[in-house]
Amino acid sequence: MKELLQKIKAEALEAIAAPEADLEEIRVKYLGKKGELTQVLRGMGKLTPEERPVVGALANTVRAEIESAIEERSAEVKAAARAAALKAEKLDVTVPGEEFPVGHFHPLDSVQKQMEEIFIGMGFQIAEGPEVEKSYYNFEALNTPADHPARDIQDTFYITEDILLRSQTSPVQIHVMEEKQPPIRVISPGRVYRADEVDATHSPLFHQCEGIVVDKGITMGDLKGTLEAFAKQMFGSKTRLRFRPHHFPFTEPSAEVDISCFVCGGEGCRVCKGEGWIEILGAGMVHPNVLRNCGIDPEVYSGFAFGMGIERIVMAKYNITDMRLLYENDVRFLKQF
Ligand code: PHE
Repeated sequence: MKELLQKIKAEALEAIAAPEADLEEIRVKYLGKKGELTQVLRGMGKLTPEERPVVGALANTVRAEIESAIEERSAEVKAAARAAALKAEKLDVTVPGEEFPVGHFHPLDSVQKQMEEIFIGMGFQIAEGPEVEKSYYNFEALNTPADHPARDIQDTFYITEDILLRSQTSPVQIHVMEEKQPPIRVISPGRVYRADEVDATHSPLFHQCEGIVVDKGITMGDLKGTLEAFAKQMFGSKTRLRFRPHHFPFTEPSAEVDISCFVCGGEGCRVCKGEGWIEILGAGMVHPNVLRNCGIDPEVYSGFAFGMGIERIVMAKYNITDMRLLYENDVRFLKQF
C-alpha cells in the first residue's frame, strides 16, 4: 500500500508539472471524493492495527504534498497569465495622440465678444432687441420722421408699411429708455439690414454695436473719455481719437470718430490708405427729442450715444480687404484668425 501511495504521488506530481496541466481535473482525479487517494484510504480497513497509523500518516503527507503542488502551480499559472496580459496591454505613452480638430469663434463673433467685455468692464449692460422692428423704433422715435433725408441711405427691407428689418441697433436704445429711467448704460450689439448691393465693402446684412449712457450731468467729455478708453483697449494703448463734426438725426451735436491707425500709428500706410486715421464710429449727445419720446426729461437728464459697424472693425483689425470673405464660411479663410 505504501508503494501504491508513492506511485499515486509520483503520478500526480508529474501531471501537475506538465505544461498543459488542468489543475482542477488533477485535483478531482487524485484528491476528490472518488479520487485515487480516497480509494486507497477506504481500503485501510484491511490493514493491521500496526500498519494503519503508518499508512494513514503517509497518505496525509501525500495529500498535503499534492495539494501544495497544485497550489504552487496554480499560482505560477496565474502569474504567467498576468504577465502575458500586462505585456499585451502595454501602453506606450510616447505614441503621438490622435488629433481632434477644435474650431474657434468667427472673427465677427470674437471681435463682438471683445467689445462686450470692454464695455462690461466700464459698467455697461448688454441689451438685445428684435431684428424685425417697428418703423417707429427704427426711425420716428429716433427723431427721423418719414420725410427725413437720412432715411434714404438707411433704406431698408419692409415687411409691412410700418414693420421692417432694423437698419441700425439704435431702436434697442429706445426700448431700453422706454422701460427704465436713468441711469442707463447699455450697449446693443446685433444684426442690421440695409438695401445695399453686395460688394467688397457692403452687405445687406451686417453687424453693429451701439451704446448709450443717460444720467444727470453727462457731457461730451464723458463720451470722449468712454470712447478713448474703449479704443485703447480695442486697438492698443497708443491709440488716439479724432472727432469730426457730423450729423445724425438722433444726436446733437454729432461726430464721426476716427482712430489713429494702429498699424502705422498715424504716418499713413496701406491699412489706413495713407490717411493715418481710420473711421470707426458715429457718436453724439442724445437729442432732447429722443429723450422726450421715451418719457425722459431732457431738462434733468442728458446722455451720449455711439454706434459702430463690427465688420469695419474686423476688416481694419485683420487687414481684410473684401467683406464678402466674412460671410462665405470658407474654413481656409476662417482658420487664419
Ligand atoms: N445709428 C447710427 C448708424 O447706424 C450710428 C450712431 C449711433 C451714430 C449712435 C450716433 C449715435 O449710422
